Amino acid sequence: METTEKYHFDVVRWFSVAAVIYLVVGTLVGVLIASQLAWPVLNFDIPYLTFGRLRPLHTNAVIFAFGGCVLMATAFYSVQRTCGVKLWSNKLAWFTFWGWNLIIVSAVITLPLGLTSGKEYAELEWPIDIAIAVVWIAYTVNFVMTIANRKSSHIYVSNWFFLGMMIMITYLHVVNSLAIPVGMFKSYSIFSGVQDAMIRSEERRVGKECRSRWSPYH
Ligand code: HEM
Repeated sequence: METTEKYHFDVVRWFSVAAVIYLVVGTLVGVLIASQLAWPVLNFDIPYLTFGRLRPLHTNAVIFAFGGCVLMATAFYSVQRTCGVKLWSNKLAWFTFWGWNLIIVSAVITLPLGLTSGKEYAELEWPIDIAIAVVWIAYTVNFVMTIANRKSSHIYVSNWFFLGMMIMITYLHVVNSLAIPVGMFKSYSIFSGVQDAMIRSEERRVGKECRSRWSPYH
């Protein structure tokens, strides 16, 4: 009871609930695409359900939806307990929650439609990429400001790791997603050839492109 009044834990709870749901849904999609590799008939000849489109849905669901929600729940929980203060802004934390979930819903709609930048683990198109940057910065600012308000004299070591991760993901996402839009849901990376390869891992791209040729629609 006392901790509920002392800290903002509702948003942590909802991030945890969302994470469980995304893990269940994400692994179910994993089971479907694994089955498609064994029995291609399970593609049903429906473009929205083919391996090439559902594989990124699976990886986005388990990494960004499940993993992202776990990460945000963990950071918002532990920064409050280790600093002995409430989150700097409960409103910003809820903005982060709803923003992140809206991004996940956009991924669930756009990926099966085949709207993709074609970059592995950065498939979402440019309007969603901008939303990710905004929500990520809201998450980071809230975390940093909570540390700034802390009651303890030193910064707990796990918070340094969280901070490093937040800064690293910011530049990874922004630089990797730099693109020139040619339509509402189509853009081209500003990097090409070897520069693109240096920004992300070329070998993985080739591997996944080969595998997505299992599907007639990719
Ligand atoms: C029943 C559970 C799961 C099944 C059946 C499953 C199935 C699959 C399949 C078929 C692929 C595509 C492999 C390919 O392109 O050749 C894949 C990729 C992947 N899955 Fe899952 N998955 C499951 C659970 C999970 C979970 C829980 C996570 C993470 C939390 C996860 C993370 C990934 C990642 C990161 C990849 C890309 C791996 C790579 O390309 O090397 N999966 N999964």
